[in-house]
Amino acid sequence: MAIRPILKMGDPLLFEEAKRVVVFDTPELHTLIQDMIETMQSADGAGLAAPQIGEGIQLVIFGFEKNARYPDEDEIPFTVLINPEITAIEDDMEDGWEGCLSVPGMRGVVPRYTRINYQGKNQFGELINRDVEGFHARVVQHECDHLFGILYPMRIKDMKLFGFHDTLFPE
Ligand code: NI
Repeated sequence: MAIRPILKMGDPLLFEEAKRVVVFDTPELHTLIQDMIETMQSADGAGLAAPQIGEGIQLVIFGFEKNARYPDEDEIPFTVLINPEITAIEDDMEDGWEGCLSVPGMRGVVPRYTRINYQGKNQFGELINRDVEGFHARVVQHECDHLFGILYPMRIKDMKLFGFHDTLFPE
């Protein structure tokens, strides 16, 4: 297992579309996921997408019990999600603050669907199918955007609501 370097915004690999995973439950996949878990936890992240460590496949991980970067949010079960498909359950969207390990030190307000269904596979190829809302729905939409080369600043509507975390939220 290893903590891997996280690519930062500006790296062209972050803007590429990731490829679908076709073979599950391989040693390579399990090792990559262990690396992602270690990398995400060492950075206090709520989620991490494989392209953020330079692996262009449709794999994201997310979840936390208590997160130092998002202290006010409810816990999200730890999830490995592969080849995800997201469907909005209703058209409602809501604004909320986001950050990203590939955009260190920054926060921005991004509109996301409030309630979504997401489906995909875990690392063993087992089906995942959940209806979620709120911050859970936001994290999934954020992470899955990484698989299509989209970083959250590209979705910000009001650039006045984008800035440095320590300036926006002084202690
Ligand atoms: Ni991100």
